[in-house]
Amino acid sequence: MELLPIFLDLNGKPCLVIGGGTTAARKVGSLLRSGAAVTLVSPTLCETLERKAEVGEFRYVARCFEPQDLPGNRLIIAATDEGETNRHIAQLANALDIPVNVVDDPEACTFLLPSIVDRSPVTVAISTGKASPVLARLLRTRLESLIPAGYGRLAEFSGRYRHRVKTRFTDQRDRRRFWDRVLQGAVAERVFAGQFEEAEAIIEQELAPDALDQDMGEVYLVGAGPGDPDLLTFRALRLMQQADVVVYDRLVAAPILEMTRRDARRIYVGKQRNHHAMRQEEINRLLADLAKDGFRVLRLKGGDPFIFGRGGEEIDTLAAEGIPFQVIPGITAASGCAAYAGIPLTHRDHAQSVTFVTGHLKDGSIDLNWPALAQPNQTVVFYMGLVGLPIIVERLMAHGVPAEMPIALVEQGTTHMQRVYTGTLATIGDIVTAAQPQPPTLVIVGEVVKLRDKLNWFSPPDEPVQGATVPIL
Ligand SMILES: C[S@@+](CC[C@H](N)C(=O)[O-])C[C@H]1O[C@@H](n2cnc3c(N)ncnc32)[C@H](O)[C@@H]1O
Repeated sequence: MELLPIFLDLNGKPCLVIGGGTTAARKVGSLLRSGAAVTLVSPTLCETLERKAEVGEFRYVARCFEPQDLPGNRLIIAATDEGETNRHIAQLANALDIPVNVVDDPEACTFLLPSIVDRSPVTVAISTGKASPVLARLLRTRLESLIPAGYGRLAEFSGRYRHRVKTRFTDQRDRRRFWDRVLQGAVAERVFAGQFEEAEAIIEQELAPDALDQDMGEVYLVGAGPGDPDLLTFRALRLMQQADVVVYDRLVAAPILEMTRRDARRIYVGKQRNHHAMRQEEINRLLADLAKDGFRVLRLKGGDPFIFGRGGEEIDTLAAEGIPFQVIPGITAASGCAAYAGIPLTHRDHAQSVTFVTGHLKDGSIDLNWPALAQPNQTVVFYMGLVGLPIIVERLMAHGVPAEMPIALVEQGTTHMQRVYTGTLATIGDIVTAAQPQPPTLVIVGEVVKLRDKLNWFSPPDEPVQGATVPIL
């Protein structure tokens, strides 16, 4: 190891920054966040520093640096825009044995400021030694996306129980098992969601002398988006990697399923038109029973669980039986397909509203509010509208929508199999007969469809691309 990573307690300690530009401002920001008492010496200040100086966030000395500024400081940062001055400061600091950082001059530094992922009190510091600060920043960006924003809160929350847990579990292994459960289970999820009282109730229950070994599990109702795994949310991904059982639908793309925990049990409950692997009531029951058996259950659904996904019905049973659950939104097919087809769903000149409707009702009919759907200046998106398309077209025209109204069908949207068919209400029937699109297909009706000619950006590759886009089978 070229350098030793350490975390310094600078709270209230004097630190000196020399220079008044934007780089100095960043360094001052880091020092202030750690509670240091900062003095800054510079004849001029950038805007950010001026604002901070005005409210007294640091002591400002408005002149050029002088050697007597150095003694008595814990750290010195040389951030003037003159390399020679910076090196001179470094030499003086070295002579006084004060650690010094010189901006853009790693050779002159006796310490480096790492790239930081700040989830205080959790702090991740990344350094590539003196080799490549840019690489450190890239790594930081990756870690930012992996570490939920709530980790700081979780650390603080667990800190409050540290002593009690030590007393309650004298065996180190028991203690570790307890913390594993807390930091990866229902308590952590409650803290991330800001539900501190619920988190406290669970941890108190687990700390009770007569606590049962068998915990209540939990259900995560997660939207997997329309197909492209890159469209998952961070939260969805985290819960996918922690659930013990995965209950999934037909519309969940294979690479997304692959991102769930390797050793998780997978249960397929997919629904196809006229063929249901499991009835809805059975799915509701299954989720509740698995959670009662103590499992963390991932209910993974295509798109968004609350948009034509029967997510409401599934959590209804859970709520009635007092089973903890959380709902993680996903990108719904309308947003995903429209974006990947280059069709903005609203547009100042063409559509002031957008309506999502189902083209398939429980009893097989399509009994919709046609007069409302036929109004101009709107976009209407039909989910499950492929089979009923002839009726949809006929009803819209019967209610006054012109035969030239543009319409798009997006098949396998956002995947490498995406196909988009555009036409008008008058022509789409022949297009469907010729092209035979298959489910899942989304139907978009409105003037906005015309914008695709100009705004289309996504061209699916001819061959499957590793991971990102595969068909939903
Ligand atoms: C039962 S609904 C589920 C909708 C889902 N909950 C959502 O928010 O996207 C299924 C319908 O969504 C549409 N759909 C879902 N994913 C799609 C995709 N990748 N491409 C095209 N249409 C899709 C199709 O119209 C399909 O018949």
